Amino acid sequence: MCWYDPENPAAVFMDNRELEALLCDGRLLRVRPDIVGDFRNMPFPCCSFRLVVFDPPHLLRAGENSWLAKKYGRLDKLTWRDDLRQGFRECFRVLKPFGVLVFKWNEQQVKLNEVVELAPMPPLFGQRAGKTHWLVFMKPMPEALEHLGMDEEQAQETVCALENVVHDLVHGKTHAPSQVLQSRDFDIE
Ligand SMILES: C[S@@+](CC[C@H](N)C(=O)[O-])C[C@H]1O[C@@H](n2cnc3c(N)ncnc32)[C@H](O)[C@@H]1O
Repeated sequence: MCWYDPENPAAVFMDNRELEALLCDGRLLRVRPDIVGDFRNMPFPCCSFRLVVFDPPHLLRAGENSWLAKKYGRLDKLTWRDDLRQGFRECFRVLKPFGVLVFKWNEQQVKLNEVVELAPMPPLFGQRAGKTHWLVFMKPMPEALEHLGMDEEQAQETVCALENVVHDLVHGKTHAPSQVLQSRDFDIE
């Protein structure tokens, strides 16, 4: 809905559902993601994107068959905080260092500050008028790497390799971190 050109080939659109439904005003709603996936566990390697737009559902209360629920989806009343926290974590994981996250939120039912505190870092700036907010974050380069004397490209590769190792370990893949780092030609302790 928010893309000027929804068919823009630069975009990978992910949603956890596919849907075609008639809205109450007679318009056809089509949710046709390129990839069906869960923002809590995205099917992308670490450091895949320069720009991520996170536009999760913002409604806790909407009838199951209401047009609002069809159009925007719904938050789970019990788990929404953990779901969004995990979603933010995944957005930063799939971003390259210095990559930009744009987060959209409508605070009709849940205040913006309740949601911002679920992100692992504060936003840089955003649009602050009205109920719909657009916030901009940037994934930082870990400070520790600045002291290793790497250039920016080496530092980026190192961050990505380390994040992939952590992600694989968390998801039960078995290779030892030291092997992975060696196989990527890194000479760090
Ligand atoms: C506000 S809408 C996004 C609209 C979209 N940005 C656009 O411009 O068309 C929120 C979407 O998040 C989807 N969603 C809800 N839970 C999700 C999850 N766990 N993983 C991925 N998508 C999810 C819903 O199906 C809904 O289509």
